[in-house]
Amino acid sequence: MATAAAQFMVWQDSWLVGVKVLDSQHKQLVTLLNELHDAMKSGRGSSIVGGILNSLVSYTHAHFAAEEQLMQMYAYPDFKAHKREHQKLTGQVLDFQEKFSNGTATLSIDVMQFLSSWLQNHILGTDKKYGPFLQSKGVK
Ligand code: FE2
Ligand code: FE2
Repeated sequence: MATAAAQFMVWQDSWLVGVKVLDSQHKQLVTLLNELHDAMKSGRGSSIVGGILNSLVSYTHAHFAAEEQLMQMYAYPDFKAHKREHQKLTGQVLDFQEKFSNGTATLSIDVMQFLSSWLQNHILGTDKKYGPFLQSKGVK
């Protein structure tokens, strides 16, 4: 009997922020993290792992831009602090991506765990706060 492999990161509905487009982007980020984890675990070559890493980086970039645009459009009071969190992570990820591509770093479970806990903590601790604010402005 075949059993499905346990997923690295399992989406939880308690992470929903209540803005449809952003919730679906968060789900897609979880999917990409799982793909990256699977590629790492099954020992895929660095060009495949690097390709998924690139997708994750560009999707994250687009997601941050979408959140920032909405927050700015409605003059969200915590916009600057929120954006700083995005910038810090972006810097760390770009740094890793560069080391990965020049062969001075490899993708490890530690890196995966850092990314998944960052995502979960950021959604629960920071993204969740704009939910009621944006909803009060009519954003769904
Ligand atoms: Fe987010
Ligand atoms: Fe965010």
